[in-house]
Amino acid sequence: MISEKMQKALNDQINAEFFSAYLYLAMAAYFEEKNLPGFAHWMEVQYEEETMHAMKMYRYVVDRGGRAQFKAIEEPQKDWDSPLAAFEATYEHEQYITSRINDLMKLASELSDFTTQSFLKWYLDEQVEEEANVDEIVQSFHLMGNDSRGLFMLDRELKLRQASPDPTAP
Ligand code: FEO
Repeated sequence: MISEKMQKALNDQINAEFFSAYLYLAMAAYFEEKNLPGFAHWMEVQYEEETMHAMKMYRYVVDRGGRAQFKAIEEPQKDWDSPLAAFEATYEHEQYITSRINDLMKLASELSDFTTQSFLKWYLDEQVEEEANVDEIVQSFHLMGNDSRGLFMLDRELKLRQASPDPTAP
């Protein structure tokens, strides 16, 4: 059975993961409007991954005998100054999510909740990948500068992104 304190913190994180999904779907819509289908596709895959993160946590709370509870999801930003600005905002957001997962790990450790620590290990590892993927795209933007051909090529490259399977799914 999960403690009330841990349950509340995980429920808050489920909300943060759904907000992340919402934010990336808003970015996908922004890129669709800018006629950048590859960037839009990348953000749609990101939306799916965030939904998976939320659902994985939901399942964990339920499996530990807890009660998943939902709050309103904050309205995401609609527009960004440029495609680069959207990806920089993504990188910043992922760093924020990493700090939240670190706080959850700290709480689980303070509560001697070893099961939740083991569960959260997957999220810690996932955040390394999430931050690295976005940082790579931000660096690509910096390399290509104002070259519109570069933007076209990057858009085509990001169109190839596939959702990574959840390795711990049954
Ligand atoms: Fe669920 Fe992108 O962190």
